[in-house]
Amino acid sequence: MIKAKGTQKEIKILSIETSCDETSVAFLSSDAMSSKSHDVGVKLKKHYIATQIPIHARYGGVIPEVAARTHVAELVSLLDKSLNLSTSKAGTKNLDFDYVAVTQGPGLATSLRVGIDAAKTIAWMCDKPLIPVNHLEGHLASAWLSSLNRKKWEFPVLFLLVSGGHTELVLMTDFGKYKILGRTRDDAAGEAFDKTAKMLGLEYPGGPKLSGLAEKGVKDSFNLPRPMLHDTSLDFSFSGLKTAVRVLLHERFVEDGKLNISKLNLVNLCASIQAAIVEVLVVKTVKAALKVKPKSFAVVGGVSANKVLQSELKKALRKSCREVTFLTPVKGLHTDNGAMIAAAGLWNLMAGRKLTNWKKIDAEPALDL
Ligand code: KG4
Ligand code: ZN
Repeated sequence: MIKAKGTQKEIKILSIETSCDETSVAFLSSDAMSSKSHDVGVKLKKHYIATQIPIHARYGGVIPEVAARTHVAELVSLLDKSLNLSTSKAGTKNLDFDYVAVTQGPGLATSLRVGIDAAKTIAWMCDKPLIPVNHLEGHLASAWLSSLNRKKWEFPVLFLLVSGGHTELVLMTDFGKYKILGRTRDDAAGEAFDKTAKMLGLEYPGGPKLSGLAEKGVKDSFNLPRPMLHDTSLDFSFSGLKTAVRVLLHERFVEDGKLNISKLNLVNLCASIQAAIVEVLVVKTVKAALKVKPKSFAVVGGVSANKVLQSELKKALRKSCREVTFLTPVKGLHTDNGAMIAAAGLWNLMAGRKLTNWKKIDAEPALDL
């Protein structure tokens, strides 16, 4: 076991994220280990994200084999840019970082392994400790990367984590201390956006495209279900909404096995789908906030880029839980990125977690918080 360097003044972390279809590398430095408050200094020195979206859009979704191969090519080039490997004369032992942080899971096994193998190689070559990071913890930490948010940050923090693979309400009482209050029993909110968007012929990933069209539509035009809205638990379910959209399209707009787009008011249907997803997320969040009475609330994960979701959450919390501060990541850090992995790596150190020898670290595709 390697002990985190608890008294070190400034900590520099190199991070790698390759869990799905974004390859990303970041360099972060912080004085967090010597500071007592949450308002610590965090500087994102370098941050590169190479998205594979245009590649997977051709197939209508992520192809794991293609994703892994693309990560290999992209990661070499991003690491070269971040570490100046091709021009560095200093030798690997003198590269200026203290830790390597890498996404361990959850995610696609083959994609995760590309990042982990690269991180292990760097840890070995540069003789630095490796921090295995939970991608979900990374999403939570994405909100903390903004200095404005760190100033407002107060435990306990309630999170709504909404991404392509996860929908969870999480209570964070301190760094490294989490309690899952509720989660989806089937599809994630991002999947609900993407799968219904695909039925409407929108390109992968359909979430942002569907929400763009929804801006021009009327949200109550179609009567769609709000699954588990009045259920007493804090769990979610989105598969019924997906089925309802499929049935609606089949019964009213499919002719000779083909969707007749000209008959369909696309913007109104997009607005109605978005409203159904947003309403469930907002109602459950308020229910959770009233139950656990957090000081701060943060909405994170790819779907949190959705402006309607952000404004509806803000409005509902202001009405029901006036004293709770509303936080969300800065633009560009909602979806997968390496900066959030570096920040979560730092949280691991702040929480005093023992670091395992890099040789024992492997991908954990189904890792939980
Ligand atoms: O966090 P993320 O980048 O990847 C996962 O960890 O899953 O989230 C990606 C998801 C996709 O489902 C995408 O459609 C959704 O976030 N998304 C959005 C928006 N931007 C991204 N969904 C709705 N509205 C948006 N503006
Ligand atoms: Zn993610």
